[in-house]
Amino acid sequence: MNVGRIRSEFPALSKATGERPPAYLDSACMSLVPRPVLDAMTEYYRDYPGCAGRSLHRFAVEVGRRFEESREAFARFLGRSDPRATVFVRNATEAINLVGEGLSWRRGDRVLISDREHNSNLIVWQRLVRERGVRLEILRLSDDGSFDGEELDRHLARGVRLVSLFHTSNLDGRSLPVREITERGHDAGALVLFDGCQAAPHAKVDLDRAGVDFYAVSAHKMLGPTGTGVLSAAPHALDTLRPLLVGGETVVRSDLSSHELREAPYRFEAGLQNYAGAIGAKAALDYLGRVGFDAVLAQELRLNRRVTAAFEDERRLELLGPRDPAARPSIFAFTLEGIDPADAALFLDEGHGVMVRSGMHCVHSFYAERGLSGSVRASLYLYNDTADADRLVAGLVELLERVPARSVSGTSAARTVSSARRATVRSRAAGSKGAAARSARPPRTAGPGRAASATGSG
Ligand SMILES: Cc1ncc(COP(=O)(O)O)c(C=O)c1O
Repeated sequence: MNVGRIRSEFPALSKATGERPPAYLDSACMSLVPRPVLDAMTEYYRDYPGCAGRSLHRFAVEVGRRFEESREAFARFLGRSDPRATVFVRNATEAINLVGEGLSWRRGDRVLISDREHNSNLIVWQRLVRERGVRLEILRLSDDGSFDGEELDRHLARGVRLVSLFHTSNLDGRSLPVREITERGHDAGALVLFDGCQAAPHAKVDLDRAGVDFYAVSAHKMLGPTGTGVLSAAPHALDTLRPLLVGGETVVRSDLSSHELREAPYRFEAGLQNYAGAIGAKAALDYLGRVGFDAVLAQELRLNRRVTAAFEDERRLELLGPRDPAARPSIFAFTLEGIDPADAALFLDEGHGVMVRSGMHCVHSFYAERGLSGSVRASLYLYNDTADADRLVAGLVELLERVPARSVSGTSAARTVSSARRATVRSRAAGSKGAAARSARPPRTAGPGRAASATGSG
C-alpha cells in the first residue's frame, strides 16, 4: 500500500492547518473523504440530479440505477447474497432504532447488551424498558474488554429476545467474536444485532456466513459522506420489522382509507432518499475494495505498535483495553495521570496539529460506573503514516514532561494551551456531549488507581 499516494487523494490532508497538514487521528468519529467519493457525489448533483422511482426521464432512471447499485455494493461488502438485505438509513443510530422500534415487543421480553455500548445501542433499549416493559440485561465484559461465552450463555438461558452488541468497541478497539455470539444467540432462540460502526471500516465481515440477523453501519466512518448508513438484515429478520417511517415510496397502492406496503427493503425507505449519500458511499466501498482490508489493517497495526511501544514504560499513561495492539489495531485509547483528557486533546491539536478525540465517547455508562472524567482516543486509518504516529508520540511526551506527575490538570496543563483557544473550545463545547461529560465527572484527574479501574469490569 502506497500511503503517500493515498494521502494525496484526501483533500483534507493537503489543506494546511498552520504550517503542516493535520495528523488526523479521529477516524473512529468521522473518517476523511477521498476525492473519488467527493467526485461521485458532485456528479450526481451535476449530471443526473433526479429522484429515483418516480419520474421516467433519464435523470430519474440513472439515479435509480446508481441507487440500486449502491444497495448491491453494500450487500456484497457485508457478505449478504440478497441485495434486499440493505436498507438505507441516515446512520447506525437510525438502523438500531429501526430494529428497536420495529420489533413487536411483549412485556418482559429481554434484550441483552454489553456494559460498554455506545449510547446509540443503549438509549434505544432503555426507552423500551420504560415504555413497553422490556427488560434489559447487561453482559459484563472482562477488564480488558474480552468476553466470556459462558457468561453469555447464562444470560441467554433466561430467555433473551434480542442480543445487541458492538462488533468493535469505539472505546478501545477490541472486537467481539461475531460468529460465536450469533451461534450461541440463535441456539437460545434470540435474534442477534451487531453495531458494526467501528468494525466494517477495518475488516471484511461475512454476515450471511456468520448468520447475523441485523448489522448497523455508518458510511461516514468508512470514507463515505455523513447522513448515510445501512441496516443490513437477513431477509427473514427484516420481514419481522415494522417500518419506523411510512409515506411516499413505501406503498404499492393507497386509497383514502387504506394502503398496502411495498416489500422490504423499500417499505423502510420513506420519502426521497439521500441519493448523493448512497452513491458517495458506494464510491467509498469501491475505494476500500481497491486498497484492500489486509493492507489497511497492516498499516493500522504497524502504527499502533509504534505508538504503543513508545509508552510501554510510561506509568502515567494508562491504556484502555487490551495491551496488545493486534487486539485493537485501529485504536490507541488512554488516560494520563494528572491531565484532563480535554486538556490533552487541546494541547495535541494546538501544539502539534494532532487531532484526537477526548471525553466519554458516547459511552457515558462506562465512565460513570468508574468515576472517570473520560479518556483520550487516537484512531488510525489507511491514510495515517509514520509521521502521524510520531507526532502523536512527540506531543504526548512533551505534555507529560510539561505537566509534573500528580499535578492537577487546569494548572500547568492548562497553561500549555493558549487561554484564548481554551475559552473558545470550552464555550463551543458548552452545549456538546463533551460538556455533558465534563460536568458529570467527579474528579479532574485520572490517577494511576483510577486509570487502572478504567479497564476494570464494572
Ligand atoms: C460503536 C458505535 N456505535 C454507534 C455509533 C453511532 O454512529 P452514528 O452517529 O453514525 O449513528 C458510533 C459513533 O461513533 C459508534 O462508534
